[in-house]
Amino acid sequence: MPVSRDWYRKRPLTVQPPPGRGLDGSDQRMFVTVLLLLVALSARGGHSEETEEAQRPGHVSVIIVGATGDLAKKYLWQGFFQLYVNQVSSGNTFFFHGGGLSPADKGTPVLFEALKAVSCSKDVSQERCAVLKDQFLRLSQYRQLKTLEDYQELAKHIEQQLQEEGMTEAGRLFYLSVPAFAYADIAEKINSSCRPTSGAWLRVVLEKPFGHDFRSAQLLASHLGNSLKDEEMYRIDHYLGKQVVSKILPFRIENREFLDPIWNKHYIERIEIVVKETLDVTGRIPFYDQYGVIRDVLQNHLTEVMTLLTMKLPKNVSSSEEVLQNKLEIFSSLLPLAKNQAVIGQYQAYKSEVQQELNKTKDHVSLTPTFAAVLAHIDETQYEGVPILLTSGKMLDERVGYARILFKNDMFCLQRHNGIHCKPKQIVFYFGHGDLQYPAILVSKNLFKPALIDSDWKEVTEHTDVSVLGLSISDYYVQTPTEQREAYAELISHIFAGCKNSFISTENLLASWSLWTPLLSSLASSFPRIYPGGVDNGGLLDVRLKGRDISYNSEVVIITPDQMGGTSANDFQVMQGKFRSADMVSAWAEELVERLAVDIQEAAEAAVRESGVFHLALSGGSTPLALFHRLVLHHFSFPWRDTHVWMVDERCVPLTELESNFHSMHDHLLQHVRIPYYNIHPMPVQLNQRLCVEEDRGALQYEKELSKWVNGSSLHFVLLGVGYDGHTASLFPGSKVSEHGESLVALTESPIKPHQRMSLTFNAINRAHRVALLVMGKGKHELITQLSRVKDNLDKYPVTGVKPDHGTLVWYIDYDALLG
Ligand SMILES: *[C@@H]1O[C@H](CO)[C@@H](O)[C@H](O)[C@H]1NC(C)=O
Ligand SMILES: *[C@@H]1O[C@H](CO)[C@@H](O)[C@H](O)[C@H]1NC(C)=O
Ligand SMILES: *[C@@H]1O[C@H](CO)[C@@H](O)[C@H](O)[C@H]1NC(C)=O
Ligand SMILES: *[C@@H]1O[C@H](CO)[C@@H](O)[C@H](O)[C@H]1NC(C)=O
Repeated sequence: MPVSRDWYRKRPLTVQPPPGRGLDGSDQRMFVTVLLLLVALSARGGHSEETEEAQRPGHVSVIIVGATGDLAKKYLWQGFFQLYVNQVSSGNTFFFHGGGLSPADKGTPVLFEALKAVSCSKDVSQERCAVLKDQFLRLSQYRQLKTLEDYQELAKHIEQQLQEEGMTEAGRLFYLSVPAFAYADIAEKINSSCRPTSGAWLRVVLEKPFGHDFRSAQLLASHLGNSLKDEEMYRIDHYLGKQVVSKILPFRIENREFLDPIWNKHYIERIEIVVKETLDVTGRIPFYDQYGVIRDVLQNHLTEVMTLLTMKLPKNVSSSEEVLQNKLEIFSSLLPLAKNQAVIGQYQAYKSEVQQELNKTKDHVSLTPTFAAVLAHIDETQYEGVPILLTSGKMLDERVGYARILFKNDMFCLQRHNGIHCKPKQIVFYFGHGDLQYPAILVSKNLFKPALIDSDWKEVTEHTDVSVLGLSISDYYVQTPTEQREAYAELISHIFAGCKNSFISTENLLASWSLWTPLLSSLASSFPRIYPGGVDNGGLLDVRLKGRDISYNSEVVIITPDQMGGTSANDFQVMQGKFRSADMVSAWAEELVERLAVDIQEAAEAAVRESGVFHLALSGGSTPLALFHRLVLHHFSFPWRDTHVWMVDERCVPLTELESNFHSMHDHLLQHVRIPYYNIHPMPVQLNQRLCVEEDRGALQYEKELSKWVNGSSLHFVLLGVGYDGHTASLFPGSKVSEHGESLVALTESPIKPHQRMSLTFNAINRAHRVALLVMGKGKHELITQLSRVKDNLDKYPVTGVKPDHGTLVWYIDYDALLG
């Protein structure tokens, strides 16, 4: 898909003439003087053509397609009226075409109602306002825009107007306030029949949704690209027009001296971007059910806010090119979002609303989320490990939107009513609504006193008794816009100025979809948690952040009476006995794992006492994970500093892959304990940029490493599991263990993927001082029954080959596996 990278160079400069008195042309003379001056200047600079073109006042045609729709009625006409008022003395002339599918006799009265409702800002007198409204009404007209002929008619009409008024054309602004499926078709009609005369600009404004995943967004972008150039497209995200959001970058820049030292992982505890709504989606289900809250709010609005908060600051905040480029860079450093970085919910009544509005039967279930909380991370040193929480939902307890940067606070205040230092340290970009009611930027007083970001903003010092995010308003420095403006009015003025900072470029759009699409697919068949709505939600949607993952704080567990019966406290005992003439410990899973953890720790302490070091070899697979967690969370005195961790076996995949045993061991154990890096011994499955090739001698290399570090190659403790087929380590039934000879490490084959493995051999295992065989789960019961009966048979049940030469073997079997 072609994306023009140099549109910004061709953008015409717009210079505002000095403000004048009216439309009557009395200030034209003055403007012409300015113009001549500019022409003279630009002739020297050598850009005469472009500049001259841009400076000449001309005629502007605004065409709203979908002019009688909700959005147009609510925001667009008001926004264009404000544009008109601001431009009245610019020397430009305007005409507003309200387009719709209905014929003119039906559309005209509807449009008239919408136009009548526009209002002036406070600083315009009533008389003047009446005059302006009257002019605006006379300059606006409904017209049917349906067929190609309609668009050709429109073009003819515009040309007529230009001739009649003797004006050159400045440009044409099309605002497509129609469903997205109509975009490509309308764009084509505009391209084929409504392009402006040469030298004038064309700007086409589009509203979300821009696709529902990466592919559809790309497809739409390429369809639009056939008709419109990238610089002609203005994709609106109305959040970028919100006053507070549009000041995030200026705030970061103005307060650089305070923020630079603290805007990083060492100081930021976490970032939260939150939009809560109280409404449901009745009446919009046919749209909403296909999108859901992630596509509707997170992928666009919240993601945009996130990029503004974390992107590298542009050297020139007015340079659209630099701003968009820096945004793009943040996208490329965002870590992929996986399923455990999201929780989803759906309000209870949604199901029946869907059944009703989509005409479905009572058993129809929709999995569309109406609530979501997602945890993002940026893979850059500056933000490494800083959780970024994006959350939004319908039918919540209040309507509010904000972005909060919560800083770490290491202060301890002894006296109860002492200073502010111990209170939360935070910066809040408050979009509006909620308890505070007005948009504002709040900085807690224990951080710094921020500079006022704009002359249109003021500091608030008179406070009502309200608290914002856990801190009384009087504990903040607060600034707010002197006049509240609608996002659409802001954005319309940016479009008119040709300023692209606050719009979504094709590249940014696709980057955002490539972040969200994999998460959306992985959630496609997940059941959202059902919530009642409003204050009744209680703590049901509270989430907990744990490392990279996020989960609901309360587990909703439905326990049936028969699930509860059967066990009593007496059953939670550890039983000792014999299994295959070796020692056996048996208990319910949790007790068993604790017992094993205690045994490993005892072995570790004994080894460290005797020889100053403990050599532990661990298996892969899912069974040991519970043990790892136990060690991490309960065994803080484990001598990790003197422990070397070895691997029993490894799959021949890159260590970065989820399937890698080392990867899992790292995630669940090693990264949480204080073990020196050089004590960790992953198996060298990847050598010379390839995986487990015999001639790379990876197995031999591991064997040498083992012999070098471990006295007599006798590991202190080897933890093994056993597979359903009787395999242990990566020694599978039918594999010819005799071929391993004297080697301690070998490449082996598994019947299941990934087939290639590297494994300790029985030679290595049976040299160990202690071997533990951990077997858990009902699924293993049958195997345990068989094993209790069979003789040693290495070929059929490789696990029967575990027989330490001088050391001890203990089976750890949970009751599920033992008793079924
Ligand atoms: C617009 O239409 C013309 C033909 O009328 C075509 O050559 C051109 O590629 C189209 N697209 C753009 C972006 O100009
Ligand atoms: C900043 O960018 C704007 C828009 O591209 C440009 O007009 C202005 O000259 C730039 N300022 C500096 C200091 O480069
Ligand atoms: C709803 O479905 C029923 C049965 O399938 C059908 O008769 C009816 O016309 C449908 N109503 C609407 C509004 O689609
Ligand atoms: C190594 O092992 C042998 C016998 O197994 C033992 O006698 C010797 O003390 C050990 N060496 C060290 C340094 O632990």
